[in-house]
Formats: sequence, C-alpha cells, structure tokens
Amino acid sequence: MPATVLIGTQWGDEGKGKITDILAGSADAVVRFQGGNNAGHTIVIDGETFKLHIVPSGVLRDEQRAVIGDGCVVDPWMLKKELDYLHEKGIQTENIVLSDRAHLIMPYHRKLDGIQEMNKEEGKKVGTTKRGIGPCYQDKAARIGIRAGDLRYPNLLGEKVEQGVNNANLFISALGLENDLFDKKQVLNELVEISEVVLPHIRDVPHMLHGLLNNDRNIILEGAQGAFLDIDKGTYPFVTSSSCTAGYGSSGSGIGPLDIEKVVGVVKAYTTRVGEGPFPTELKNQIGQMIQKRGHEFGTTTDRPRRCGWLDLVMVRSSVNWNSITALALTKIDVLSGLDPLMVCTEYRIPPDAAELHGIGTTLRHFPSHLELLAEASPVYIKMHGWKDMDNDDWMEVKETGDIPKRVQDYIDLIEREVLANVEILSFGKGREQTMDRSGEVI
Ligand code: GDP
Ligand code: IMO
Ligand code: MG
Repeated sequence: MPATVLIGTQWGDEGKGKITDILAGSADAVVRFQGGNNAGHTIVIDGETFKLHIVPSGVLRDEQRAVIGDGCVVDPWMLKKELDYLHEKGIQTENIVLSDRAHLIMPYHRKLDGIQEMNKEEGKKVGTTKRGIGPCYQDKAARIGIRAGDLRYPNLLGEKVEQGVNNANLFISALGLENDLFDKKQVLNELVEISEVVLPHIRDVPHMLHGLLNNDRNIILEGAQGAFLDIDKGTYPFVTSSSCTAGYGSSGSGIGPLDIEKVVGVVKAYTTRVGEGPFPTELKNQIGQMIQKRGHEFGTTTDRPRRCGWLDLVMVRSSVNWNSITALALTKIDVLSGLDPLMVCTEYRIPPDAAELHGIGTTLRHFPSHLELLAEASPVYIKMHGWKDMDNDDWMEVKETGDIPKRVQDYIDLIEREVLANVEILSFGKGREQTMDRSGEVI
C-alpha cells in the first residue's frame, strides 16, 4: 500500500499533529522524516492533551509503529524525557523506532545554537528554538556528525565524540568563552549512559518500511515545521535547517518517491509565525491579538507568543505547487468566529522598479524567492464576510457538512479556487471529534 505524506503549508503550527493523529487511525506506521524536538505537536484526545516534540504523533494509537526516520536529528536526553512523559500518561513506547541513520543532537549543539544566535546582531537573529537543530545539521553536512547507529560501537563513538567536541570547542574558544568549553570524557560518559535507553529502539528504518509496504501496510510520513521554514523554499535565512517539503518525505524516511500516493497539506485558517523573519499579512494590531488569544497561539515548544495575520493564499498556492498537494486539511476555522470582515490575501503587488529588476510583472501570485523582493511586496486582499454569530457551542454541534454555515463554505470555496486544491479535511476544534471528512461525516 502506498504512503501518505503530511506537511505544513505555512510557518509551522498548522495543526499537523492533530491531523496526523486522525489519519493515523487507519495507518500501521507514522514516520517523522526531518527536524527534531524544535517541533511541538499538540493532540487532544477525550479532553486530555498530549504534547509531542520528537516522537511521531502515531504513538497515541495502539499497535502502531512510531518511527523517527533517517532525516531527523534526535537529542537522546530529550527523547528519554519524552519517553518518560509518555509512560506517565500510560502510553506504550515499545513501538517507537529510531533510525540508525538519524543524527544525534549533542549538548554542544544546544550550546552552539545559543551562542550563534547571541552573536548575530539585531535584525539578523533567526529566533531559533535553541534545541541545537542548526548546529547538528551543520555537523551532518560537514560529515562529522554522530549517528544513532554509532551508539552500538563504543570505540567509534569515542573517536566521533572527540572530533565533535574539538570542533565545537574551537568555535567556543575563538569567542573567548573558556568557561563554556566541553570535556570529551564527560560528554562520552553521558552519551554511553543515555545510550541504554535509546539502543533498544534503533533499527534500519528504510529496510523496515520497505517490509511494511511489501505487506500492504499503510504508512503516514509526518512532516514537522512548514514549507516556509524549509531550508530551500522558505524565507531564508529565517528558516530551520532541514527540508520540510514533501519531497524530503521520501529521502528522509527511506522509501522511494513512487511509494507516496497522497500529499496532505495542512493549512491554518489564518497565518502564524514564531521567531523572526518576514510576514506579509501580519496583523500588529488588536485583530492580531484577538486571533492570538482565541487560537491560543503560544509555542508548544518554547511558549513564545506566535505572531498572527490574515490567511495568505500566495503562500498556500506556492506550497501546493512545491509539494504536489493532493488534499488540504483546513484547521482552526472556529478561531475566526466573531471576526467580520475577514481579509484573505490572494496576490502581492510589486513596485515597477523591483518588478523590472527581477524580470517579473507587478502582480505576483507565487511566493518570492528573495527576501529583498518580498520586502517590496504588498498583499492584495479580498474581503470576506465573517461567521460572527458562530460561537464555540455552535461548533460543538457541527456533525455533518450541512451544519457548516454558508459563509464558512464561501471561505473554503475561495481557498480551493485560488490554490487549486480541495479541502478534504476540515478541523473546527482541538478534539478528534471536531474534524470532518468533507465528503461526509465528522471523523
Ligand atoms: P503542529 O505543530 O502543526 O502540530 O501544531 P501545534 O500543535 O503546534 O499547534 C496547533 C494548536 O492548535 C494545538 O494546540 C492544537 O490542539 C490546536 N488545534 C488544532 N486544530 C484545531 C482546530 O481546528 N481548532 C482549534 N481551536 N484548535 C486546533
Ligand atoms: P512545528 O513542527 C513553528 C522556527 C523557529 C525559528 C526557526 C528556526 O511545531 O510546526 P530552529 O530551532 O528550527 O533552528 O529554529 O524555525 N520553528 C518553528 N516554528 N513550528 C515549528 O515546528 C518550528 N520549528 C522551528 O521558531 O523561527
Ligand atoms: Mg507546533
């Protein structure tokens, strides 16, 4: 059976965890294929809240494999913390699998993440989660990273830790931060100690997934972050250090591209962003604050307030194109209740001189590839009627498509028309039961 890849179409926090959990109901394995514990995926089941950072959302379904794939970076100490958290919540963790090819986030990566940010001047800081993601991927690209599979070989591990620590210390001492230098022996000892927790979960993941596909099993590839945080497509350099687009679902998990049949793009009914970087439809006013409050837009990982703005369909349209999205899942439509009118950005206007420099017209319907051009872009909005009479209780009553108010339907129609993809899943609350397969019933 072919796989489905699920990705965020904006700047993350679209509700991927919730939608993954829904799709996982009919899956045999859920696989994270990129990123690390910079992600924060919140899932609410029967009123109980689960917050996951590195463990795939499939862990909350029984009998299912929750797989951390080749393309991920994993902090073993944070993984242990998450396993403990799941145990406390009564969730089985035996089915959690970690790829032997995944890279390990080491304590010096976390430290370097902080130092690199500290050294950037105002306006250049990325606002990272300080989880060590960027430095770990740097070591991976520099071919000095430590992979989970190395934990099986203590001698090799010793050499690799020495190399990693020396490399980190070079940077730290160049900045005169002598008190922050790492001790190889201590790092190695701590790593060997934690490896006891991690080793039982380690497998050759592509091999395992191939076996599942051959046995007609259903696989969900769960993306983290979002298309606009992707290292290539996103608002570089205000991005994360991994590929968050659907194509990496194949390489980051280890299944071939032709094994992926469906691509689900998760879209929040408005736009949010955590951390620094450009945001064309940002609302730095009371409406933005209202959306932030109603949508509880505070980071799951860092608790930072998320910046909020109107839905930007230029972004979603580009996401649809970059990712071959076959279906959209629209989330948090309930949060917009009470706001009237609603503005939706459908294109950007570019001043003539900038347009000439880039050899483009003065109307842009795809997302600019360069931040200098993006800075010149002004959003063009379509004004929509809001569904101001709908409150939370009304959303709780929604059971079938006929219960969706006409104005919500108009908003969905506009999205589908503008980005040329169908909203197949509609989410109108945190719980599993507040989700609708648009072909029919609440899921
Ligand atoms: P992710 O990183 O994409 O998985 O998203 P997060 O979990 O970081 O943020 C999404 C937040 O919105 C979580 O707190 C979810 O419980 C919540 N959420 C998801 N879908 C809906 C929805 O349709 N309505 C409301 N009100 N909340 C939702
Ligand atoms: P989920 O999976 C939202 C942002 C950070 C920062 C930038 C780089 O929950 O959607 P990093 O620590 O990755 O080097 O930070 O990326 N960022 C996220 N924003 N949701 C996420 O994950 C994010 N993961 C990273 O805020 O701007
Ligand atoms: Mg999140």
